[in-house]
This record gives sequence, C-alpha cells and structure tokens, in this order.
Amino acid sequence: DHCKGANGLDKVVLREVRGCSAEVYLYGGHVTSWKNEHGEELLFLSNKANFNPPKAIRGGIPICFPQFSNLGPLESHGFARNRFWSIDNDPPPFPTNSSNRAFIDLILKHSEEDVKIWPHRYEYRLRITLGPGGDLMLTSRIRNMNTDGKPFSFTFAYHTYFAVTDISEVRVEGLETLDYLDNLKNRERFTEQGDAITFESEIDRVYLSTPTKIAILDHERKRTFVLRKDGLPDAVVWNPWDKKAKAMPDFGDDEFKRMLCVEAACIEKPITLKPGEEWKGRQELSAVPSSYCSGQ
Ligand code: BG6
Repeated sequence: DHCKGANGLDKVVLREVRGCSAEVYLYGGHVTSWKNEHGEELLFLSNKANFNPPKAIRGGIPICFPQFSNLGPLESHGFARNRFWSIDNDPPPFPTNSSNRAFIDLILKHSEEDVKIWPHRYEYRLRITLGPGGDLMLTSRIRNMNTDGKPFSFTFAYHTYFAVTDISEVRVEGLETLDYLDNLKNRERFTEQGDAITFESEIDRVYLSTPTKIAILDHERKRTFVLRKDGLPDAVVWNPWDKKAKAMPDFGDDEFKRMLCVEAACIEKPITLKPGEEWKGRQELSAVPSSYCSGQ
C-alpha cells in the first residue's frame, strides 16, 4: 500500500491479517508507526516531529548510517536518515524467510553529492517485514561498491523509539553486568551493576557486546517489548529527560516520559567492508503481554 503521508512524503503501509500494521517513509527509509492487532501504537513519534527534509523525523526508527552520533566527521547519525530511499522492485534473495509476510524492500545508493561527503560507493538494501504475529523485522544489507579498491568502515544503529506509558515505571533487562560507554561522561567506560536498568534521569549509553535479546518492560501497560538482534553487538539506551527535551525543537517538553530509545547498534568496533563485501544486520521487535516474558 503506497500512498502519501505527512507533508506529501511517500509512505508505504504494511498490514498483517490480524490487523497489525507498520508505516514506512521512503524519506529516511524510516519506520514511523508499528501497531498491534488492537490498533495500539508501539513506537513513539513526537507530536513535534518534522516531516520537512532535510530534517530527520523525530521518533519511529531512524537509520543511523554510516556514522553513529558525532563519532566522526559526518553530521550526527550520518545521512541515511535524511536521504530519499527508493523501492527496490527486484531485490536479490534475502536470507530471512518473508513468505506469508508483508514486507517492503528499499534501497539507498551513494549519490555523487554524497561521495563528496563520504568518499565511497555503496548499495544499502533494507527489508522491513511485518510477521504473522505482528513482529517487526528490519534487515539491512550494505555492500561496498567502490571501484578504486578501497575498503570503507562505518558505524550503525537502528535508532528505535519505543512508546512507553511512564518512563519511571520502565525496566530494561538483558544489559545487567555489561560494560558501557557513557555519552554523558565523555564516553568513559563503566560496568553496569547487577540489576535491570530503571530510569530517573537523563541516560545516554552504549552497552557493549550485549546478548542478542533485550527486554523492555512497560509495567503500567503490562507490555514487554522484546528486541532481538543479529550482527549488531552493541545497544544504545537513550532518554533525554526534561532539560534536553526542552532544548530539542522537534520534541515536546514532556514527551520524554513516554518514550525510550533502545537501539541495536554496532559502534565500538566499526564494520569494515572491502569492495564487493556485504554486511548484514537485523533487528526484530515483538510486543507481548508482560506475563509471557517475566512472570509479572
Ligand atoms: C542517541 C544518542 O542515540 O540519539 C544521543 O546516543 C543523541 O547522544 C540522540 O542525543 C538523538 O540524536 P538526534 O541527532 O536524533 O537528536
């Protein structure tokens, strides 16, 4: 289902038989909505989100490529999130089974303008799949298309904004005892202590070499998001809290209470591809009643 979204931008709507759905903007290759069979929104999208290129859309799942944050010379989080992607009508076979599923294939290639900013040629294929149970899967395949024999390196994140009822009632499980880099303390390295992560102030961390499964428990709504990932060793946890929220023009002052970013990522050790080589990275999200997962 291909139609016009906010500000006349092209979007694709994926629907599953039980009524789950997802919306994807070609601008940014950006998932802006993911709803369960009851029509409840599972992703956070700011009321102040800009659908005005070249601004990135605040919320949903921005794609951070080829640079996470301001870790290199490019604009923060790279440029994929504010480029116009195309529908890939003839994708090569994907390793994941998408039969009986709603999916869309997008592609982003270097433009001659972008080669001046990041001097590499690439093909980035993104498949977004809505599974039969409403699971949302994003699979990225990035290939080095350089003809000058040069490898390239990049960092990456699926910058996922989960919708939560009340951030102070949220717990994240699966990152206990891990090392993390604290972006609020000059990226210094710390070790997480025993317990699940809870939230009472600004947080901006890159957890390193995490397990492939992370759970985000929304107590008030008795819902657990399960994030599974492959090819993406790290995980970012971010909430701007009140002060930073006020400083962001495209984010409401109180919206930090109902969002949490948990992002499958590859940051500490950048990915390097030689010409012709391809990298794959996958993030799969499901939303289940909390009792299924945690006995609560
Ligand atoms: C997070 C970063 O992933 O994204 C934060 O860790 C950053 O440092 C946040 O502030 C939002 O970034 P942006 O560019 O979308 O405002």
